[in-house]
Amino acid sequence: MPKVVVTRKIPGNGIKMLQDAGFEVVVSPHDRVLERQELLNFIQGADGILCMLTDKVNEEFINAAGPNLKVVANFAVGTDNFDPAALSSHNIVGTNTPDVLTEAVAEHTFALIMTITRRIVEADKLARSGSPPAFGPEVLLGMEIKGKTLGILGLGRIGSRVAEMGKAMGANIIYYDIKQNAEFEQKVGAVFKATPEELLKEADIISVHVPLLDSTRHLINAVRLKMMKPTAYLVNTSRGPVVDEAALVEALKTGVIKGAALDVFEGEPNHAPGLDQLNNVVMTPHIASATIEARSAMGELAAKNIIAVLSGQPPLTPVQR
Ligand code: DGY
Repeated sequence: MPKVVVTRKIPGNGIKMLQDAGFEVVVSPHDRVLERQELLNFIQGADGILCMLTDKVNEEFINAAGPNLKVVANFAVGTDNFDPAALSSHNIVGTNTPDVLTEAVAEHTFALIMTITRRIVEADKLARSGSPPAFGPEVLLGMEIKGKTLGILGLGRIGSRVAEMGKAMGANIIYYDIKQNAEFEQKVGAVFKATPEELLKEADIISVHVPLLDSTRHLINAVRLKMMKPTAYLVNTSRGPVVDEAALVEALKTGVIKGAALDVFEGEPNHAPGLDQLNNVVMTPHIASATIEARSAMGELAAKNIIAVLSGQPPLTPVQR
């Protein structure tokens, strides 16, 4: 009986689907990230592994699993935790979970945009402070979305959906991507910018949706932060290392930009010193896809990928770099 290892408990029917497919399914008993050695011991003898974005899938991981390993299904759309060369050199299929989390991540991105521009966290603190202010014409003034320019860095599924949401709220949409998308431009009235720099100079809100690659690491650095308007906001729900977090702290402290809202961090789960002391930043701990709907669907899609590969079928959503 093929063995499938699941490195953390997941919601939805994914586990049951694997069991119903006739596999021996071993789920981590801990609701936490496994320590590296613990993980390497745990995956031994697996034919398929359903893993988390916190699990580094490299040569060491593949060797620890052993010679039966045929498929590693990431419980995430991002696959920067995968070493694609190691997977392909062992003929192991890697899969991810696109589409099923698009709405959840886009909605969370928009929640962050609204939270930082309307100063919801500061307002919540003030309302609970014991001495909340009476209505005041200048208390906690924020910024409206309507008529502002929303800049989308990376026009994949999630970036496109955030753009649509921004459009529905009356924002002007500009985007940068390695590929221009004429169809999307027509649909949403979005305007393509040929470089990230052009976008950074024009946008009032910049929302980052690029995958983490060598070419996107520190895409937002000190130099590019200085190109942003001092009234602009940066929002990141992609991957932490896309933003140079130390440079961001400095930019937020010194008024180079107005504010930031982050779901992802460079040294996750930790963040750069000083970030949590700033009032003009909102932080959530990598929960953009954390809806019951998305997380259940992610588990089910990962299970379907494993079932397909272990039954000799092509995976539904292989990782393509
Ligand atoms: C992903 O799936 O890559 C997201 O970061 C999860 O929230």
